Amino acid sequence: VTANAASSSERADTATRSRGALFHAPPPRPIVAASILSADFARLGDEVRSVLADGADAIHVDVMDGHFVPNLSMGPAVCAAVRRAAPQAFIDVHLMVEAPSRFLAPFRESGADHCTFHREIAEDHRALARRCHELGMTAGIAVNPETPVESVRELLDAVDLVLVMSVHPGYSGQAFIPEVLEKARWVRREAAGRVRIEIDGGVSPANASQCVGAGVDVVVSASALFGARDRTAVVAALRG
Ligand code: DX5
Ligand code: ZN
Repeated sequence: VTANAASSSERADTATRSRGALFHAPPPRPIVAASILSADFARLGDEVRSVLADGADAIHVDVMDGHFVPNLSMGPAVCAAVRRAAPQAFIDVHLMVEAPSRFLAPFRESGADHCTFHREIAEDHRALARRCHELGMTAGIAVNPETPVESVRELLDAVDLVLVMSVHPGYSGQAFIPEVLEKARWVRREAAGRVRIEIDGGVSPANASQCVGAGVDVVVSASALFGARDRTAVVAALRG
């Protein structure tokens, strides 16, 4: 009994490590993170399993508090439901909230592998990144379209990922802002492979290769992916 318990906990540990490793090193090909904001919430488990079967590498969970952005979306209970539906999936949580410090542990307990918080909030970003790491997650810092990317320079050694917003956060289905690609190029120059570069908002097969060409290695998609008839083809196209 003891031996079995040990080996099953080792297996669980290996699974956690390999999920957790997704943002640790430059990926061999661009990572596609499916944002469930455009999924059919009434069939969330099926949507998550089907988009993963169609090739998505991660599930992106958009959390909105009605203060940092003018909308409400989902909380830890939805993250836990995603985890139950897809025990092996990498869960990338995007915290569009004013006080992420309150939610890091609840999301970790709900199965999150990674949390991204925003540069624009007033909390101590370095402490937030440290807390993510203590909890066993990777950490990301996001910049809104109007925020200069140079404002994350001092944090590049503290985080695993920089998220470049290519729409004003709050809603899926908005138009891509191409000017933000210069920010991805800046991160690539400054951090050269040491952090992942994620782009989020309005990404589609029409602009994915521009994103990847600018150094993006994690592509988020909600409407282009969940709205597609052939999601496998869209996942492939999103890799640029
Ligand atoms: C926007 C969210 C995005 C959004 C992307 O506030 O952070 O993740 O769901 O949706 P699309 O891909 O439809 O622009
Ligand atoms: Zn997002």
